[in-house]
Amino acid sequence: MTKGLFITFEGADGSGKTTQLEKVKTFLEQKGYNVVTTREPGALEMGKKIREILLHSEEKVADKCELFLFLADRAQHIETFIKPAINQGKIVLCDRHTDSTVAYQGYGRGGDIKLLKELNKIAVAGLTPDLTLLFDVDTQTAQNRVGSEKDRMESAGMQFHKKVRDGYLELQREEPKRIKLINANNSIEKVYEDTKDIIIKLIQEKLGDINA
Ligand code: TYD
Repeated sequence: MTKGLFITFEGADGSGKTTQLEKVKTFLEQKGYNVVTTREPGALEMGKKIREILLHSEEKVADKCELFLFLADRAQHIETFIKPAINQGKIVLCDRHTDSTVAYQGYGRGGDIKLLKELNKIAVAGLTPDLTLLFDVDTQTAQNRVGSEKDRMESAGMQFHKKVRDGYLELQREEPKRIKLINANNSIEKVYEDTKDIIIKLIQEKLGDINA
């Protein structure tokens, strides 16, 4: 059986990536592909508990605690869910993954970027996405889209979110082959057209012609 594909969706809170992930899922399923969607943090039972702490803890969460919780969630997710799905030939669409840690805990919180990349490598045990879509939107628009009901990460402030955005853009410049930049200031339809074009190219490259 041919191996599946691993595609991650990255960007700011309010970038619209989750909407696009659902649209891509529908598109690929219509084309007959076996697709699973998932997310970080909190896709699995254990992860839901981790997610609860990360996003809603009333107790102060130390930066290192936050980092290790995201990594713990990822390690479990990769080994028990993502890897098996790819090995079964599925296309895995994952809402946030390693680049979120570098953008948020690294560029946002000021963590050591090189070290975070190493820790990510340990967490994923050698598996890297075939493609990462970066939905880039200006920070004010993103914050407006999030609205007033913010979780712990979303409440971190404009300066923090600006640094996260710049961090993502830096990552994209470093790895232009894996990370594709999409202008998410555009309408949902235009963003979807751009997203679909990139997905089709990837499938043609990795799996041969896209199903009719
Ligand atoms: P979530 O509600 O899933 O946000 P979104 O719908 O925007 O993906 O919350 C996840 C939050 O956790 C989001 O603010 C980004 C943050 N995060 C990190 O800081 N580091 C990480 O490694 C991951 C995976 C997420």
